[in-house]
Amino acid sequence: MISTSLRNEPMLSYAAGSPERTDIRAALDAHAGQVIDIPLVINGRRHAGGGTLPLHAPHAHRRQLAAVSQADVGDIAQAIVAATTAQRAWAAMDFESRAAIFLRAADLLAGPWRQRLNAATMLGQSKTVVQAEIDSACELIDFLRFNVAFARTLLAHQPHSPDGMRNALDYRPLEGFVYAVTPFNFTAIAGNLPCAPALLGNTVIWKPAFTASLSNYLFMELLEAAGLPPGVINFVPGSAAAVSDTVLASRDFAGLHFTGSTEVFDALWQQVARRLPQYRSYPRLVGETGGKDFILAHASADAEAVAVALLRGAFEYQGQKCSAASRAYLPASLWPRIKERLLDDLATLRMGDVEDFGNFMGAVIDLKAFDRVSGYIAGAQTAGHQVLAGGQCNDRDGYFIAPTVIEVSDPKAVTMREEIFGPVLSLIVYPDTAWETMVAEVDDTSPYALTGAVFATDRQAIAYASAHLRASAGNFYINDKPTGAVVGQQPFGGARRSGTNDKAGSVLNLQRWTSPRTIKETW
Ligand code: SER
Repeated sequence: MISTSLRNEPMLSYAAGSPERTDIRAALDAHAGQVIDIPLVINGRRHAGGGTLPLHAPHAHRRQLAAVSQADVGDIAQAIVAATTAQRAWAAMDFESRAAIFLRAADLLAGPWRQRLNAATMLGQSKTVVQAEIDSACELIDFLRFNVAFARTLLAHQPHSPDGMRNALDYRPLEGFVYAVTPFNFTAIAGNLPCAPALLGNTVIWKPAFTASLSNYLFMELLEAAGLPPGVINFVPGSAAAVSDTVLASRDFAGLHFTGSTEVFDALWQQVARRLPQYRSYPRLVGETGGKDFILAHASADAEAVAVALLRGAFEYQGQKCSAASRAYLPASLWPRIKERLLDDLATLRMGDVEDFGNFMGAVIDLKAFDRVSGYIAGAQTAGHQVLAGGQCNDRDGYFIAPTVIEVSDPKAVTMREEIFGPVLSLIVYPDTAWETMVAEVDDTSPYALTGAVFATDRQAIAYASAHLRASAGNFYINDKPTGAVVGQQPFGGARRSGTNDKAGSVLNLQRWTSPRTIKETW
């Protein structure tokens, strides 16, 4: 049982005149004119690595925020030694002592560190203050606190002991270290991927996404301030290929905790498969990968609610949430009302520098993302699809892509099938009578199965969609947008090509980081 006193961290409002508005302004101002050196952290010591790369703000790409050290092969080898050396003492520490470190980190984040981490997430990852608060404050605090509760539940799960014997499960960590490869789009996920295995007694090598280095390094410092012993989590920014090649070649590699693209996860899995005989155990491979998340509306749906879900689901954080709605199926009878509301609302939205609190959107993460997303928009225009809103891409000052709505007539159009990972919503309007065909299209069109939402008031329509889309989404929403899973409320993850579905924010994820020993004692 999860303690009833546990509650999700409430969001602060950031309304003009609020104390948090003053605090975030001060935290942002502290970065003005600063270029922060981001080192590697191996066994609690700072390392310069084999060179640095400049990190710029996505919404102001001439502004350098940091110089990020890049690990060389020697650094990675040292990180492996640090992780394997620290493991014995860390695993021997009793669970509640380990848990206290992460609970303390949560309290520091809820208090004095909150606006520092939000500011780093805003500047480095181009999140508005609201999106930063959802992520690097509330969700990360929730992961830290709820994981302790989940782990207590897991550890309490013990076998039956008849008279004359004692049976027990001894929850050992994995034998070796865990490799955490983390994404740019959520500071919370970046923090959770190393912390969840560490809570259960594992040591970790953490490779952050380059573009999230500013917030991720600050979180590493926060863990140290909370008392994390040296070597338990080793922070190793660097080229993905270089770090992964060295880490996966180690005999002590015991698990991968990954969020990122399907292609990279495939490549890591294949590398691991080729090396299986050299590892001590079969490594645990836990990954959350791509998505092509849907909104499907039935003719009985509330048109206003659908329009709001499309806007928020597709465009918050520039459509760069793994869960973002990127394809929609809308009934002809509701389409005029949905379209009017969606386009009216889009016309009032502002995009720009995230330090301007009136903006709803910032920039996409980097030039590569800008080129990819603008390429999809250009491709849709060339294919003759109708661009109902947006379409403008401008990288003069920052990587800005206007929220774009594309109407297609072919349910298998490229923009209905492929992951775009940006502010592009592709939609098709269907005759009301084609509901069952559309349900089949939703299931059949994409190889992914992360999130999806169905809007209907007709109970039979809800039941039909729920049954026929059972395999199409790991997180299935009824009359709500497909983003914004809350830790402890909606465990998060998908199957098919979206990952291993080891539900972040639940006991199901934590159980992957333990390798239990069964003990039987008789007398
Ligand atoms: N957990 C996030 C959400 O549900 C996505 O990664 O929006």
